[in-house]
Amino acid sequence: MEIIYHGHSCVQINNIIIDPWISDNPMCKTKLSDIKVDYILLTHGHNDHVGDTFELAQQNDALVISNVEIAEYFEELGLKTFGMQPGGQYEFDFGKVKMTPAIHGSSYTQADGVNVPLGLAVGFIVTIDDKRIYHAGDTALFSDMKLIKDIDVAFVPIGDVYTMGIVDAAECVKWLQPKIVVPIHYNTFDLIKADVNEFKNMLKATKVVALGPGERLNSL
Ligand code: NI
Ligand code: MN
Repeated sequence: MEIIYHGHSCVQINNIIIDPWISDNPMCKTKLSDIKVDYILLTHGHNDHVGDTFELAQQNDALVISNVEIAEYFEELGLKTFGMQPGGQYEFDFGKVKMTPAIHGSSYTQADGVNVPLGLAVGFIVTIDDKRIYHAGDTALFSDMKLIKDIDVAFVPIGDVYTMGIVDAAECVKWLQPKIVVPIHYNTFDLIKADVNEFKNMLKATKVVALGPGERLNSL
């Protein structure tokens, strides 16, 4: 399995990309035209997550998997979509996607400046072969995270202000007990600066892998 971090919340797993904010992402080193994917998973409508979904889906004829409201929005614009809601799971040809709750907003600001509310923010558990990958999306800490089990890799936000900061994220990781945790949604801009070494120090029993943009997770 190939897992690449593109910065902020953008994670690529084989031919699947989650939250493809590429061209305007100050951390991303990859060119949009170099990304070849068949599936785009969106955790919510905010522009730092929807990012280049439209162009990428068109270029690759990719399927957009998201909450129903985002799916309907992009379906009307001509994209192939698959809508789900929190708690639901569906088996695609690459494996299973389960949509988990997240505590966060989900509006999308169009190019004309109009802000459109698009359902609930979510996270994903992606199961490929026997590996379970949890992408928490943008979220606060919430105690139902304790119900999420058997995670091989967890991508959790640590940047604070809009999501969990390092203290809450460390608590989340203690509940999840993933084999590997990869911090996301931090250091993209000043407001979400986080000390990843301090985060690591809080989690001595867990393998924390802080990936730089464009880096691969080799240990899975
Ligand atoms: Ni957000
Ligand atoms: Mn965000």
